[in-house]
Amino acid sequence: MPPAAAPASREREATGATVGPVLSRLQTLADGTRVRVLLLLEANEFSVGEICRIVQLPQSTVSRHLGTLAQGGWVVSRPEGTSRYYRISRTLADDARDLWAAVRNQLVGVPRVEEDRRRARGILDGRATGSRAFFRSEAGRWDQLREQLFGTRVDAALLAGLLRGTEAVGDLGCGTGHLTRLLAPFARRVIAIDRSPAMLGVARHRLRDEPSAEVVQGDLAALPVESGALDLAVVSLVLHYVVDLEAVFAEVHRVLEPGGRVLIVEIREHGRTGFAERMGHLWLGFRPEALEELLGGIGFRPLGIRHLAPRPEADGPELFVLRAEREGCREARQVAEDDPGVRAERPVLERT
Ligand SMILES: C[S@@+](CC[C@H](N)C(=O)[O-])C[C@H]1O[C@@H](n2cnc3c(N)ncnc32)[C@H](O)[C@@H]1O
Repeated sequence: MPPAAAPASREREATGATVGPVLSRLQTLADGTRVRVLLLLEANEFSVGEICRIVQLPQSTVSRHLGTLAQGGWVVSRPEGTSRYYRISRTLADDARDLWAAVRNQLVGVPRVEEDRRRARGILDGRATGSRAFFRSEAGRWDQLREQLFGTRVDAALLAGLLRGTEAVGDLGCGTGHLTRLLAPFARRVIAIDRSPAMLGVARHRLRDEPSAEVVQGDLAALPVESGALDLAVVSLVLHYVVDLEAVFAEVHRVLEPGGRVLIVEIREHGRTGFAERMGHLWLGFRPEALEELLGGIGFRPLGIRHLAPRPEADGPELFVLRAEREGCREARQVAEDDPGVRAERPVLERT
């Protein structure tokens, strides 16, 4: 007759290690404190200290239970500063998840658990108190502080992020590629075009690590771009250097696909002749409505004009933004060439 099994080995048989993972998981969940802690960590991430304050138990006890939960794969943690934050694992095995769901259902309305929930809410509210107090006192200085901490590129990156990432964009009159660099990470393709080799040299260097950017020399009145290739054309601070606005707009119309948009940033009409001469400007700015009318005559649907309030630190003339959409499938140039009457009806923009 075989000797009877010793009590210790019988106990071992009953552990998860020999009988299977479900029993091991049951053992972990068969403790009221561990279940309360797991419930907390399912809803939010907490540090050991915070858990101690919620469940009202000493740190040694909480740490021991967290150790057991972590060992069983129920919770994970990450360090932050001098603390370690715990949360429930997002990769629980299916049987663990089912087991936990069954246990959790039994905890609804249990007074101790409800008390934990209230204390946890207090801890979370307390976390936000510091930031609330900060913004209460810093509201008047926040814009300045924001710029000091993060610079101005954050705004541009945020707005460029409104692109879907599938667009082909033309930065027409790209200059040194300042805008191209902001747009390139968020567009499928950005073609940066300028006629000045010196400006393009700076742009090429700036864009050397942007695979979606192409830098091409060319004139806006004869764009080196296939017809209908662009979804968006940006023409920023360029038109006051352009001799024949109509020719440029006709080209922008040609290279945009139907429904494509042009975004123009320009100088408002001004009387600063000395400034304009120094900068080589051909136009003393524009009346935005006049540009919009000109675009309308070439097959663009206006999408609106926005005046940009001058910044106190900027000493150049005021600016505006004008947006328009390329209509249907009309070829403006073709229309003009085929029908001289159309050209005659177009508004003529007078130099100011
Ligand atoms: C004031 S910079 C603006 C650069 C850039 N768009 C920006 O917003 O910073 C004007 C640029 O337009 C370019 N430009 C002017 N007329 C042009 C034309 N007809 N064709 C191509 N580029 C032109 C100039 O070479 C110059 O680089």
